[in-house]
Amino acid sequence: MTEADPQIADNSLVVLIGPAGAGKSTLANTWSASQVLSLDALRETVSDDAGDQAATNDAVAALHLLLEARMRRRRFTVVDATNVTRAARKPLVEAAKRHGMLPIALLVPTPATVCVKRQSGRDTNRSVPKHVVLEQHQNMVTSAGTLKKEGFHDVVFAESLHRLLPLLKRISTARRSDPTPADGDLLLVRRVFGDAILPLWQWKPGSDIAEGDRVAEIRLGQQYLTLTLRPNVGGLGESGFEVQVPCPQDDDCTGRAWVPVTGVTCLFRALSGELDGDDGIFCTVHGLTPGDEADEPDGLQAETTEAVC
Ligand SMILES: Nc1ncnc2c1ncn2[C@@H]1O[C@H](COP(=O)(O)OP(=O)(O)O)[C@@H](O)[C@H]1O
Ligand SMILES: [Mg+2]
Ligand SMILES: [Zn+2]
Repeated sequence: MTEADPQIADNSLVVLIGPAGAGKSTLANTWSASQVLSLDALRETVSDDAGDQAATNDAVAALHLLLEARMRRRRFTVVDATNVTRAARKPLVEAAKRHGMLPIALLVPTPATVCVKRQSGRDTNRSVPKHVVLEQHQNMVTSAGTLKKEGFHDVVFAESLHRLLPLLKRISTARRSDPTPADGDLLLVRRVFGDAILPLWQWKPGSDIAEGDRVAEIRLGQQYLTLTLRPNVGGLGESGFEVQVPCPQDDDCTGRAWVPVTGVTCLFRALSGELDGDDGIFCTVHGLTPGDEADEPDGLQAETTEAVC
């Protein structure tokens, strides 16, 4: 049996059924990622756009192929798609039965008004039109009575499940197996810039380019950024990072200019050159770049003494 849900055996194929916005993917996320076949994810895999309806046929073909491979191995699987029509469900039930797995219909009967309302919070490419959501909802309601006849071993309602505990267990296991850096400063790096930056991060021991403060590099191939860790930023007792940018006044200047950074977006802006020439960048040779007050309509920059990303 899967953890806390006696209704769902380990040899199940769970077929989620519900309109867009019902909460299917949220529920699917309580199982391991490898156990979930998501039609949206496969649409994105084949077309780079999870909402590209023209990619649906290819995504469905991919889903069926992957499902067959999992059923042959008798692996517990969840199909995350609307599955509100009998035609969509038929090949899923058949794949399960071919391999002696139990097809389980998992209904997510969220009220239509809620499903429609939830579309407005989505990116435009993922937002499903109201009339489509209402039609999906109607199809789900109509389907509910025929699922057993279609060959489903069992029909389960989302609200009867106990999925919070397995979700927390999975997340906590994932966190425990995170490699916790021994170096306390790497914890700060992770907090400010996120996990993806950690493998690229190198402290530069013995560097004196930052007035004695620690220096680090983020490098991937030919591209890199140089950073320094400033203790006690603004006298507040908190440490903060600054990134090195070119001198705003002279391309050939050998001085160093630093800009405080608060996150990975700042790193992107620094490397793409967006921060270059910002008013208020301090160069160790040229000093502070004077803000051009005549060009500033609101005069805001004139009050800024330090450039901030
Ligand atoms: N049980 C829930 N309670 C409150 N909001 C939820 C719940 N399940 C999902 N949602 C929210 O509804 C929206 C749609 O959920 P999602 O899982 O993406 O739906 P679907 O995959 O069925 O289209 C998301 O913003 C999600 O945060
Ligand atoms: Mg979804
Ligand atoms: Zn300079």
